[in-house]
Amino acid sequence: MTQDPEPHLNQVSSKKHTFSEWIEKRFPVFSTFRREYIQFPMPRNLNIWWAFGAVLCVTLLLMLATGIFLALSYTPSAEEAFASIEMIERRVPSGWLLRSLHMAGSNLFLVFLYLHLFRGLYYGSYKNPRELVWLSGLLLMLMVMMTAFAGYILPWGQMSYWAANVVIQAISSIPFIGEGLAHWLMGGSSPSDLTLHRYFVLHFAMAFFIIAVVFIHVICVHVVKSNNPKGIEPKTKEETLPFYPYYVAKDGVVIVGAIILLVLLAFFFPDLLTNSENYTPANPLETPANIAPEWYFLPFYGILQLIPYKFLGLLLSVGSIMVLFAVPWLDRSPIKSANYRPLYRIALFLLVLSFVMLGIVGKYHSHTGLIWLGRLALFYYYAHFLLILPFSARFELKRTLPTSLLDEKGHK
Ligand code: HEM
Repeated sequence: MTQDPEPHLNQVSSKKHTFSEWIEKRFPVFSTFRREYIQFPMPRNLNIWWAFGAVLCVTLLLMLATGIFLALSYTPSAEEAFASIEMIERRVPSGWLLRSLHMAGSNLFLVFLYLHLFRGLYYGSYKNPRELVWLSGLLLMLMVMMTAFAGYILPWGQMSYWAANVVIQAISSIPFIGEGLAHWLMGGSSPSDLTLHRYFVLHFAMAFFIIAVVFIHVICVHVVKSNNPKGIEPKTKEETLPFYPYYVAKDGVVIVGAIILLVLLAFFFPDLLTNSENYTPANPLETPANIAPEWYFLPFYGILQLIPYKFLGLLLSVGSIMVLFAVPWLDRSPIKSANYRPLYRIALFLLVLSFVMLGIVGKYHSHTGLIWLGRLALFYYYAHFLLILPFSARFELKRTLPTSLLDEKGHK
């Protein structure tokens, strides 16, 4: 009979084995992980656009990690908030780094979010059966926007104060309930200590709600599986690849690229995307010459500037996001991917152009020449969703789609 040369090793591994089995029987975390993140069948033709979901998850974790450490040294009071940010920048060990990463991270987060959303629009990822993926994504976008807005108020610089003021004024333009609602949200008649406190709690708490909704969003994706550039569902095993190692590696490369971008922005261009006005402490008695929000809110701010009636401006601005919730039902075309819809591709290009135009109006709204161009862009923005999406399929030529993801015909 041969003797086991290393009986102690066997003992350890069998102990480990039984422990994982013990857990697995009560809470099947290992088999779920294996099924959902190792063997999970992904369409084999996914391109770089499908990596931004993973990039968003990593950026979200970075925001959470840096945010928690910043919160340790931040004071949410109108008297001390500005000084506490100065202290973080100058005296807290690595405070400048944390803040720089948090600020660069927030900008990149919104870049990736817009790219992720655009991918959905281009490849028709909102269509049956992925409506809930789309809706949960939009809920995430609203939550992220609220969090970003609340975060911008926290340094209590000039732009923080006046941005809060603009939003409060827009809210108070709502007939009947506006004034009361604005007063209630602010805890007073103008942005104050109480407002800052509320925004801090909102900013901090919302981050965790976002994580919860990301779980729901990703579960929705896993139930219906990913769409792909061809927009047809894989029917055989050969048309798919397991998530590990193929997409772990592919997403990993894009994540490394995103980190390089983040580091470049945080270390070399920390002020590229911020408004220098916010390095002046909030002064309720002095309105800045040009109040403008962060770049990612510019199109919505632009809409507010285009319409002389405040409440109508607010409706159209909020409506420009709300209309996205109806997209799965507005788009009547049976074809998902824009690769096979040349007319829709042009329409989508014009949509992006009009969104950028609205952003330009938001930034340079005092130039009167832009107002009519802006109104044209606003008209197109709504026409895209309310006219082009429902009716464009009637004007599109019939196309034969590939029948399989292995089909090279029409491969893109
Ligand atoms: C915090 C923000 C978000 C995170 C962390 C996130 C995360 C993810 C992840 C990990 C995936 C799977 C991988 C991929 O397909 O890229 C995904 C898919 C998807 N997301 Fe998001 N997402 C976010 C926001 C949004 C938004 C704003 C929308 C658009 C309204 C959206 C719509 C979708 C759609 C339609 C899919 C399925 C795509 C397909 O299968 O083609 N997501 N998301």
